[in-house]
Amino acid sequence: MLRTHTCGELGAAMVDQRATLCGWVDRKRDHGDGVFIDMRDRYGVTQIVFEPDSGPELLDLAKRLRNEDVIQVEGLVEPRPEGQANPKLATGGIEVRASRLVVLNRTETPPFLPGQGSLPGEDVRLKYRYLDLRRPAMHRTLLLRNRIIKTMRDYFDEHGFIDVETPVLGRSTPEGARDYLVPSRVNRGSFFALPQSPQLYKQILMVAGLDRYVQVARCFRDEDLRADRQPEFTQLDLEMSFVQADDVIAMIDGLMARLARDVLGMRIDLPLPRITYDEAMRRFGHDAPDLRFGMEIADATDIAGRSQFRVIRSVADEGGFVRGITVRGGAPRFSRKQIDELTEFVKQDCGAKGLLWFRVEPDRALWSPVSKNIEPELLDAFRERFAGEPGDLILISADRWPITCKTLHGLRKRLGAELRLYDPAAMHFSWVVEFPMFDRDEEENRWVAMHHPFTAPRPQDMDLLTNDPARCRAQAYDLVVNGCEAGGGTIRIHDSSVQQTVFNLLGIDADTARERFGFLLEALRFGAPPHGGIALGIDRIVMLFGGLDNIRDCIAFPKTQKATDLMTEAPGAVETKQLDELGIRIAGKPA
Ligand code: AMO
Ligand code: AMP
Repeated sequence: MLRTHTCGELGAAMVDQRATLCGWVDRKRDHGDGVFIDMRDRYGVTQIVFEPDSGPELLDLAKRLRNEDVIQVEGLVEPRPEGQANPKLATGGIEVRASRLVVLNRTETPPFLPGQGSLPGEDVRLKYRYLDLRRPAMHRTLLLRNRIIKTMRDYFDEHGFIDVETPVLGRSTPEGARDYLVPSRVNRGSFFALPQSPQLYKQILMVAGLDRYVQVARCFRDEDLRADRQPEFTQLDLEMSFVQADDVIAMIDGLMARLARDVLGMRIDLPLPRITYDEAMRRFGHDAPDLRFGMEIADATDIAGRSQFRVIRSVADEGGFVRGITVRGGAPRFSRKQIDELTEFVKQDCGAKGLLWFRVEPDRALWSPVSKNIEPELLDAFRERFAGEPGDLILISADRWPITCKTLHGLRKRLGAELRLYDPAAMHFSWVVEFPMFDRDEEENRWVAMHHPFTAPRPQDMDLLTNDPARCRAQAYDLVVNGCEAGGGTIRIHDSSVQQTVFNLLGIDADTARERFGFLLEALRFGAPPHGGIALGIDRIVMLFGGLDNIRDCIAFPKTQKATDLMTEAPGAVETKQLDELGIRIAGKPA
């Protein structure tokens, strides 16, 4: 080894002993007659002192060091002089008086310094990711990720799960995003699809009798990217045989309690709370509600229906909804200009036509620019419905159900953060259950699977499957952490006639079904056990546990919003010869 210790471990116990450290020059302070170097490695920072009595050569070499040079230092560990200890640093009580300095490698001038507070734009960080990853904050996140995955693996090992790898070169899976395709040279004109998840394989493993499968699986989805989405991401994927939804949920409950305890040192009560999808939409307007704070939605459609005020009346008449939230003490905090901004926000981002708002005056009357258009007794009824107290601000959306959901969820999310309605360090875990089986694609006028086409309906909803598909609920469950969908799973259909009914509803004809997942349907005919599972988004869990707001910070080498890698410049052009071998010709110029 080129070192005896790391830059994070020297303390009082080592005083008066010699140590050799290796690392990077984090900072240099040149006092003329002495040089102080903060030396950094993965484990911490240690202060190195060069003084005239160490000899002019050594001092001169130290003076010529530059930030991010790689050095080896040998010296004597000494207590820091009176009053100069740094309690914030693990090594803050000592310094190393250097007697030898070796420059292991000089650096060119780096485009930015990982040891300094101010960061360049994200594109520079991603292009020089190795410099960005030198930052202690990035190391901490990668260590957190490592700890989370290790804890998951231990937990599932203890519970008898088998880790099985499934192919990356496979067939298109049914998760619903666009596939990344890989052309086959040997079978010209044919393509593999990178897996959107190991869904089909894990079900086959249950047919194969593996009983409990788990995998840390890389998934690929060519979809629009957001702060919590990457085209290439990692799932903790699992499947279990002879189980019901409650069993899978209980298994994940246990995992979350273990992660909270071992990773965050936090105790959480089990079982984790559950709410149904319908309740989530009714109370919070979203299927992954942030339950760290209240501000629940109330429905005043019945009151609106009694008013002559056209904005709400017309909506109530047309079968729409008049729903709103109450911002406690919001009246004095929001100026007209700020309310106009909220109105603009819901119009731009949530598809709303407008935003009605009322201040609750000290005499409990509701005031708004439109309040003179609303019957006084109905204003009173509104105040009561929204539990308005003097000083509150009531925000109302009048629209079709989905728009009121989107608008009020958008407002709730935004105001929750802006008004700091929750402790940012708090963690809230919950389940949303009983999702609808189907969603209506209005444009194409057809049913689409809310989760995927292998999801089983609730046994008590079996009749609805054919009679009233819109009301049929699935054995589906999503894990929600702080208002973010951290995982989702279902009990699967293991009966081929039910599967056929679902395919019919989804407009998947027999040929398409055979073409796309024939192998699974065939396997299900050879004695498939009842089974179900779930997948957790590991990148998202790291983001939530680390209190980060960007999934790219949780991945060593992430893609940009445009699905490119700025460091390697992938995707890139390939040689014509490679394309010829694959029988591929590029049509026209790329956009
Ligand atoms: P689903 O599609 O809900 O289910 O995915 C499971 C979890 O994976 C995470 N996730 C993502 N994370 C980052 N970037 C993305 N683009 C992305 N897409 C999804 C989310 C999500 O909750 N096969 C089923 C699981 C099952 O039924 O067992 C599946 O993939 O946290
Ligand atoms: P207008 O008559 O369109 O100027 O709207 C009068 C007020 O009602 C404005 O404050 C609008 O923002 C609000 N408004 C209009 N449509 C809706 C709607 N669908 N939901 C809530 N408020 C609305």
